[in-house]
Amino acid sequence: MPATLVIGCQWGDEGKAKIVDYLARDAEYVVRFQGGANAGHTVVVDGTRFAFHLVPAGILYPHATCILAGGMVIDPLALSSELDMLTEKRVDFQGRILISEQAHVVMPYHIRMDRGMEARRGASSIGTTGRGITPAYMDKVGRRGVRMGDFLRPRASFEKLIADRVRENNRAMKALGLPAVPVADTVHALSEVARKIAPFITDTRLVLWSALDRNKRVLCEGAQGTLLDVDHGTYPYVTSSSSSAGGAVTGAGLPPSAIDRVVGIYKAYCTRVGNGPFPTEEKGKTGDLLRKIGNEYGTTTGRPRRCGWFDAVAGRTAARLNGITEIALTKLDVLDPFSAIKVCTGYRSGKKRLHTVPISLETLTRCRPEYEEREGWNRSVARDTELPDKAEAYVARIESLLDCRVSLISMGPERLAVIDRTHKRRPATISP
Ligand code: GDP
Ligand code: IMO
Ligand code: MG
Repeated sequence: MPATLVIGCQWGDEGKAKIVDYLARDAEYVVRFQGGANAGHTVVVDGTRFAFHLVPAGILYPHATCILAGGMVIDPLALSSELDMLTEKRVDFQGRILISEQAHVVMPYHIRMDRGMEARRGASSIGTTGRGITPAYMDKVGRRGVRMGDFLRPRASFEKLIADRVRENNRAMKALGLPAVPVADTVHALSEVARKIAPFITDTRLVLWSALDRNKRVLCEGAQGTLLDVDHGTYPYVTSSSSSAGGAVTGAGLPPSAIDRVVGIYKAYCTRVGNGPFPTEEKGKTGDLLRKIGNEYGTTTGRPRRCGWFDAVAGRTAARLNGITEIALTKLDVLDPFSAIKVCTGYRSGKKRLHTVPISLETLTRCRPEYEEREGWNRSVARDTELPDKAEAYVARIESLLDCRVSLISMGPERLAVIDRTHKRRPATISP
């Protein structure tokens, strides 16, 4: 059976995990394929909130095997804490987490470098999550990284490798004016965690290929969003991985022909955390209200997210790039109290009207959004079994602007707060 791919189509935090959780009811394998603990994926089940950074959101279903695939960069200490969180919350993950030998390790010095590099950039900082993502990917493409497969080496060989890498990097850190990472402590901490996670490490490609051969359902969980993709995002204000659909192919080791369903996740408005262009950003009261109602604070860093109206130019660009086959529209409920709702339908760049996000940062920064204004529905979308007419019309407008069907509508953080338009399932258990 072909695989399904869930991909963020804005600047991250679109509510991917909420939709992955919904779709994972029918999946045997759930796969993270890029990024690392910069991701913050929230699922709320019966009032209990789970924040995932590395483990795929599918872990909450006992039938699902969760794979941390080769395109990821994994901080083993962060992973260990996440496993402890699962144990505390009584989620049994034994035998259900597999880690690719190919995935690269985020070392403690990567985290220091990330923060040090940001501090040096000063006013032109990217606003990274400080999770060591860029330095880890730099070491990967520089062919000097440590891989999760190295955790399977005999202990002495593993400890020598870690000690050598820390010493080498301490020299680089010194050149940057950053404090050295203690060698013995790092070797000790990573050896301890290696014992804990070594049993999970394997060639996950073989597992996935066999799953496809056996007609098992595979669900790929994107992290970040298309406009943060290192190639296609608003460079250089991006993350360091391929967070659009192509990343699933290289990151998971799946052939392109294995994916036949691409669910593009869009928030009913836009947010961005960190720096960089954001054409529809609302810096005044409207942005504050969206932030307050949508509780728009970063899952990983707690930073307030920048908020603004739905941007159909960015949306269309992401739809084309990812080849989305359907849309999951999230956080529609957040627009409930607005009497007027704006949608950006084009960018004005001098005398030109643009329909896709330009590649040049200078051009993008100069673009002015063109809006259409719509009347709000002024009541709770979650209250009745049918959406209010004006909410239905808003969804239809997004469908026409992106030329794609909205199959799922999310209207609350809880697992059940979703309308499945394909199966005509109504959220019967949502209280008024
Ligand atoms: P992700 O990174 O794309 O998985 O998204 P995050 O988890 O970082 O951020 C989405 C936030 O919105 C989380 O706090 C979710 O619990 C919450 N959320 C998801 N869907 C909805 C929704 O439809 N309505 C509301 N109000 N909150 C939602
Ligand atoms: P999820 O998966 C939103 C942003 C950071 C910064 C830029 C680079 O939860 O949607 P990095 O630490 O990756 O080097 O930071 O990317 N960023 C995210 N923004 N959601 C995320 O993940 C993000 N992961 C990184 O804020 O602007
Ligand atoms: Mg998030």
